[in-house]
Amino acid sequence: PNYPHDFPQDFLWGGATAANQIEGAWNQDGKGLTTAEVVRRASDRKKMSMGDVTRASIEAAVADTTDTHYPKRRGNDFYHRYEEDIALMAEMGFKVFRFSIAWGRIFPNGDDPTPNAAGLAFYDRVISTLEKYHIKPLVTLSHYEMPIQLTLKQNGWASRATIAAFTRFTETVFTHFKGRVPYYLTFNEINTGTWGFHETGALDDGLSADAQLQLRYQALHHQFVASALATKQLHTIDPAAQMGCMLARMQTYPATPKPEDVLAAQQADQRNLFFTDVQARGEYPEYMNRYFAEHHIQIAMQPDDQAVLKANPVDFISFSYYMTTVTAADQGAAINGNMATGGRNPYLKESAWGWQIDPIGLRITLNAMWDRYRKPLFIVENGLGAEDKLEDGQVHDSYRIDYLRAHIQQMKEAISDGVCLLGYTMWGPIDLISFSTSEMSKRYGFVYVDQDDEGHGSLRRIKKDSFAWYRKVIASNGADL
Ligand code: BG6
Repeated sequence: PNYPHDFPQDFLWGGATAANQIEGAWNQDGKGLTTAEVVRRASDRKKMSMGDVTRASIEAAVADTTDTHYPKRRGNDFYHRYEEDIALMAEMGFKVFRFSIAWGRIFPNGDDPTPNAAGLAFYDRVISTLEKYHIKPLVTLSHYEMPIQLTLKQNGWASRATIAAFTRFTETVFTHFKGRVPYYLTFNEINTGTWGFHETGALDDGLSADAQLQLRYQALHHQFVASALATKQLHTIDPAAQMGCMLARMQTYPATPKPEDVLAAQQADQRNLFFTDVQARGEYPEYMNRYFAEHHIQIAMQPDDQAVLKANPVDFISFSYYMTTVTAADQGAAINGNMATGGRNPYLKESAWGWQIDPIGLRITLNAMWDRYRKPLFIVENGLGAEDKLEDGQVHDSYRIDYLRAHIQQMKEAISDGVCLLGYTMWGPIDLISFSTSEMSKRYGFVYVDQDDEGHGSLRRIKKDSFAWYRKVIASNGADL
């Protein structure tokens, strides 16, 4: 019988980034301060620091006009080096580049009466440069940041008013870039909103665990509605473009074949897949009603909300894939997200940051997602954070090549299984600031950036060994790994 053995000819190979992890220029050309730029570097390298934000820490950050303590104000200087960086991507043969448009560059306070022309002009320059090399833009509309004024004024996504502010931003973007951006994503890793501030822009420190969950799921409801409304706008304004949702997918395995453990793993998976269930199927799944009741969560909805969700599902499903986790019934609640917070799997190795490496899990995930939704899939993040060593102007990152090769092999298997996969954007092609720890020294790139955790360095770009390898992979359309 016939089945595909190769990547499709139009497969979209590329890389992925986010504005606040690359751009820098945090206060230039009219940009407003965003939620990502009030976060300090993590004191513990394995601990995510996004959750440590309080109203007092934000007020102190707003008053601080330097970038000393806030690495996401620096990024890797893409704002000034985008031409060089995109030329490097073109040299590797990128077909697609994922980046985010910072809301705070377009509407500095989130709800200004008119957009900031200089902000739009920057992304015009970026997109023109991509067009020069026939690289397609894949644009995230909200990647872990929003104008900080919306947090201070209305507690971010906890407020329903934020829906209107966001959809003004998206309408501006869709209209301005009409015909130039074929793929958009609304919210990056939307499921991590259950962890709080970095995704919801809402302060909830000091609340009880259930009250926090109440606030976070309510904020997420507002994001679901905003995402559906943005999808509707896009289909009206720029009908050739497609909208995707974005999930931090983390497959949960049962610790043993004991039915209680298998059930615990299924429930953990449901709480992860809940988000794509809403965005792809257009409705809240029944299993969450029980979860909400048991945690005293009540989602306030307006009469039209369910109809808006139902009428505007996404066109494709994207996700990040870094790891899988393990759960057992007697281990308590399961774990969402892609951080090293889950149970250990004795069959897997892990990165220096404790993220367990599971290429076969990617094949399992691709098959499960395709079976569940029957919508095209897009892997928009995958990669290895490592402490690279620059020696004699070279970085021998064979461990990164091994990691990526193993994952790409499993993508190929999944395509042979019949999965519809649009593309693959590896995370952080040019070293950037880590999301979870705000370190520079947690590097993902094919290109080394000469900058340390304190922001010292020439910012010079240096090709690692993986650069030539990825170029070969793309040139052979995944045949030569
Ligand atoms: C995802 C995020 O969680 O993983 C990215 O969407 C992030 O923003 C990436 O950078 C890797 O995580 P980290 O914490 O190693 O940068």
